[in-house]
Amino acid sequence: MTLSPVTSALLRPLGAALFTTLLLAACQQASSRSAPPAEPIEPPPTTATKSVAMPGLHNVVTYAPDVVCGGVPEGEEGLHTLAAMGIKTIVSVDGATPDVEGAERLGMRYVHLPISYDGITDARQHELAQALASLPGPVYMHCHHGKHRSAAALGSAVVLAGKLTPEQALERMTVSGTAKEYGGLWQAVREAKPLGARELRADPASFPSISKVSGMVATMSEIDLVFDLVRQAEKAGWQPPKDHPDLFAPKETARLALLFTNLQVDADSQKLPADYQGKLQHAIETTQALDAAVQSNDLAKASQLFEHLGKSCKDCHQTYRDNP
Ligand code: HEC
Repeated sequence: MTLSPVTSALLRPLGAALFTTLLLAACQQASSRSAPPAEPIEPPPTTATKSVAMPGLHNVVTYAPDVVCGGVPEGEEGLHTLAAMGIKTIVSVDGATPDVEGAERLGMRYVHLPISYDGITDARQHELAQALASLPGPVYMHCHHGKHRSAAALGSAVVLAGKLTPEQALERMTVSGTAKEYGGLWQAVREAKPLGARELRADPASFPSISKVSGMVATMSEIDLVFDLVRQAEKAGWQPPKDHPDLFAPKETARLALLFTNLQVDADSQKLPADYQGKLQHAIETTQALDAAVQSNDLAKASQLFEHLGKSCKDCHQTYRDNP
């Protein structure tokens, strides 16, 4: 059947409309892959007495309404969970570089205000409280594991912003699992005092999404990340874990050994005393032996060395990182 010129002229816009509809549907389907899950997720209640794990998030604890603390969002999954919780601002307080673009794709802003383990300076406590008071909420504050630094940073910020008393904030830190040995972190919250409205005011544009950290902090952040991967491999009997099939232990142990060796030429690391250099040398030798054991498939020895390495992280941190 042939259509009269009049009929086909009438049908053409219809065809175009149908095509546009199909195209739109296809685009929506494509974008729904990176969109947050349709179902909103409730953050844990402020009265919870235990931290919770959520998809791609560890150790999640709510400190006050719309103020949540936890571990680093793991990849897309963690960011999607935050978006589904309605989080608008993510504040990172550790030395690792945040995934600013990943967060922005899901409509969230990243702010990076790193702190160390030995305490929080007054200036940083003010900035953290100002971020809480002036940036859109709900806010999610994190460090790597969400236990020590983000708990103290958020604990101090909620007190300075007048949302909780120090006693209430200290109780939330206990739920996050902050270790007693980080005296400077506890002290910051114990001694925190509410600021006035004027002191809390800040230009929302003034907060950095990436802060520059020293070479040593950057290397330690990477060591932490790789150490975590090696731990996962060790737990899985030095095989790729089921939920991490591309984790290849020999690649990560080699990387760990290299990272420690690199510290020896870091200017800040070189300034530290001979006792520290001895501990660093010991860590280098341990990671090299660990790598050799993994490469040669001597897995019992590898597990022993891995445990020993964990102790040398603690041993050096006790003296050179965790106390003022
Ligand atoms: C020889 C000493 C030494 C050893 C061994 C060591 N560290 Fe560190 N680490 C430090 C020091 C010092 C700092 C603080 C650097 C600073 O704040 O300038 C630090 C900082 C860190 C940080 C904080 C980074 C940040 O976000 O601010 C992490 C995480 C870390 N180390 C993980 C590890 C892990 C995991 C191991 C063991 C596999 C380890 N370190 C072994 C000395 C050491």
